[in-house]
Amino acid sequence: MTNILCIGAGYVGGPTMAVIASHCPQHRVVVVDINEARINAWQSDQLPIYEPGLGEVVRSALGRNLFFSTDVNRNIAEADIIFVSVNTPTKSFGQGAGRAADLQYWEKTARQIVENSTSSKVVVEKSTLPVRTAEAMEQILNYNSAGLHFDIVSNPEFLAEGTAIQDMQHPDRVLIGGKDSPTGQQAVQSIVDIYAHWVPRERIITTNLWSSELSKLAANAFLAQRVSSINAISALCEKTGADVNEVSHAIGLDNRIGRHFLKASVGFGGSCFRKDILNLVYLCEYYGLSEVANYWEQVIKMNEHQQMRFVSNMVSSMFNTVAGKRIALFGAAFKANTSDTRESPALAVCRSLLEERANIVLTDPHALDNARTDLGGAAKLVCFEPDPYAAAKDAHAIAILTDWAQYVDLDYEAIYESMVKPAFIFDGRNILDHKKLHSIGFNVYAIGKPPLTHNHVS
Ligand code: UDX
Ligand code: UDX
Repeated sequence: MTNILCIGAGYVGGPTMAVIASHCPQHRVVVVDINEARINAWQSDQLPIYEPGLGEVVRSALGRNLFFSTDVNRNIAEADIIFVSVNTPTKSFGQGAGRAADLQYWEKTARQIVENSTSSKVVVEKSTLPVRTAEAMEQILNYNSAGLHFDIVSNPEFLAEGTAIQDMQHPDRVLIGGKDSPTGQQAVQSIVDIYAHWVPRERIITTNLWSSELSKLAANAFLAQRVSSINAISALCEKTGADVNEVSHAIGLDNRIGRHFLKASVGFGGSCFRKDILNLVYLCEYYGLSEVANYWEQVIKMNEHQQMRFVSNMVSSMFNTVAGKRIALFGAAFKANTSDTRESPALAVCRSLLEERANIVLTDPHALDNARTDLGGAAKLVCFEPDPYAAAKDAHAIAILTDWAQYVDLDYEAIYESMVKPAFIFDGRNILDHKKLHSIGFNVYAIGKPPLTHNHVS
């Protein structure tokens, strides 16, 4: 039996360890966190995060070989392998503020591991870290008087929220990076052995530490770049009469381009894309590669532009003012099938419309609690309404900001009847039937398509 510990019971740590425990009944898996409420929630019927399929996986192993605890120190002492999945937000202070990763939790965790260990261990980086962090962490870990040796392994997370369980069960690849030394290679092998319980061996790839760390940043930068690229094209489509869905389809059929991640939208969100690209940009600047830094930074600027362009389109189409108008925002989560609102374009749109003094009603099936917290002081200006029909009642406009499937099948005729006329709908995710909405009477604005409007002047 191997004692596996994960420090950090968040969106990554919780689902990852649940899947490992379910596939490796012979190992004991413990997840610890400093947040007691989170640890209690993992052991209840109300899991702390919404993720399809997560409940069944947790239940299959909870109490058998999967345990949650707040006792970090004791569990460090008992562990053979420690995954570290604490958060690494963008630094908000000092050198590198707004760009570099804040490593204080990681460093604190590394020191805690040393202080509570009585045997040598493998430490796995699961949090996304700046390239070459492993080296610094190794120094902290191995500078100890007890003669203990720690091997550090990088095992970046590629799961996407909303499909986390599916992604973990059937990953495209698992990446494990380690040192070339004999103990470094043994450490890599110990992690390979865990995944090999359910992942075909050819999908488990091993690299050196820095390739592994950089691959995580590069993968997210490439994915985000595709979204920014298609969003850049969407702006041109709106001006020329081209339809971005047709363009995506046409270019995606080229095998060299591929069809995934070409959905034009109000912008990308989530905890990783922006943070990881900023990390990459900071790294490039640190090494004096300013052109390379500018190149990647543009992916973020394009994303900010897309969100602001969406708001400007709303204001200009609604006769250049939204002040005092009730606007229903459909969706707060950064994408469908998650309760996560980190970096959600929905909240950026919400804040901008509040600045325009609109009356905002925000609806979402799972993310309203997180939205309320993330909006902070602005939350008191927002009406939170779980029912989309109630949210749309008496509104001048609806904006679709999250691609929740349930928004496709609403009774838009009834919704239209309940709204102030002329009624506007802005589809920031291109998920609705625009022609049908137009025939109901809506003025319809989608991303990267000519608007479908009614001329009310006779
Ligand atoms: C985190 C990282 O943010 C990301 O870079 C990485 O790719 C995966 O791990 P996520 O799981 O989404 O992502 O973060 P979050 O949900 O915030 O979970 C982190 C958890 O660590 C929190 O529950 C927090 O309480 C816990 N934590 C943080 C500790 O237990 N100890 C600490 O010192 C700091
Ligand atoms: C991402 C990576 O996909 C994952 O591999 C990594 O481990 C963490 O970061 P996640 O942030 O959960 O995962 O979501 P993802 O599905 O990548 O979507 C990110 C954002 O891009 C969402 O806001 C989504 O709506 C948007 N998006 C995605 C588009 O706007 N268009 C697309 O075509 C695809």
